[in-house]
Amino acid sequence: ADEALQAEFDARIAANQRVEPRDWMPEAYRRTLVRQVSQHAHSEIIGMQPEGDWIASAPSLRRKAILLAKVQDEAGHGLYLYAAAETLGVDRDDLTERLIEGRQKYSSIFNYPSLSYADVGVIGWLVDGAAICNQVPLCRTSFGPYARAMVRICKEESFHQRQGYELLMRMMEGTEGQRRMVQDAVDRWWWPSLMMFGPPDAESPNTQQSMTWGIKIDTNDDLRQRFVDMTVPQAERLGVTLPDPDLVWNAERGHHDFGTPDWDELKQVIKGDGPKNAERVSRRRAAHEKGAWVREAATAYARKQQEATV
Ligand code: ACO
Repeated sequence: ADEALQAEFDARIAANQRVEPRDWMPEAYRRTLVRQVSQHAHSEIIGMQPEGDWIASAPSLRRKAILLAKVQDEAGHGLYLYAAAETLGVDRDDLTERLIEGRQKYSSIFNYPSLSYADVGVIGWLVDGAAICNQVPLCRTSFGPYARAMVRICKEESFHQRQGYELLMRMMEGTEGQRRMVQDAVDRWWWPSLMMFGPPDAESPNTQQSMTWGIKIDTNDDLRQRFVDMTVPQAERLGVTLPDPDLVWNAERGHHDFGTPDWDELKQVIKGDGPKNAERVSRRRAAHEKGAWVREAATAYARKQQEATV
């Protein structure tokens, strides 16, 4: 019977059809999805911190309203993704425990500090830009609930990317000091943004299997290349320099050549030794503990409501 189920699953993947939560799926497929979707959810939630740091000191009411909306969107993304993960038979509380105990990963990018308001713009432009590049293809990922969550998330991410770019445009029209702030933020975020796409293909243990299953649509290196090609003209328009002396258009390939990110740094950050890892996780843990009474109250309320209807 297992063979028939496996054949049905394989045929569904081959025909580019979606796998839904109640369909049979190989255990390893389920495990891979739980890993990727929960890491993705954790990234959205931890990702609120570097920008959240600036809400209280936004330079104007308008910027504050924009940033507040954006950071709230990230929380929403985390929630859709936890809900998608739960359709695979895991429990959100358990995933949160795994995050705050350091047993599950989240994106390396959020372990870098945001040092000035220009970082808010650069995170929108480069970090959300990289996120879009990675996530638009995931709207066609083979697991239905993950693919559907991606559609809405990508729409909101493009708003985030534009607000970042618009903020930087305004700063570039400002004073010499403001232009320096923008360039400094670009210098600090460029390489970490390239690392978001993961290790090079030759050192990516999961890519091949995930592509066979239609979980991943493109390889890490292909997406990284797409991001570089997309960003170079935007940087020119903005008037900033991307900090890579090897970045040059290669007419033969029809793509930009670019330098090699510091892969040792990526490994170190993923391992938990980046500039902000400890702070990000301990803040998340503190927020979870502080929120215990809200979860208890909500559970008690739901129970009372249920009792009232029987
Ligand atoms: N940060 C942290 N960990 C990473 C990163 C990164 N940038 N890139 C790769 N890794 C981890 C992988 O999770 C994997 O670890 P694990 O097997 O212990 O889980 C290991 O490094 C090896 O990498 P790959 O084999 O390439 O892993 P994978 O096939 O999962 O590809 C990728 C990594 C591209 C990040 C993929 O998981 C993905 O597309 N995820 C969905 C997008 C996402 O999570 N985005 C979050 C940031 S965007 C945002 O929130 C704004």
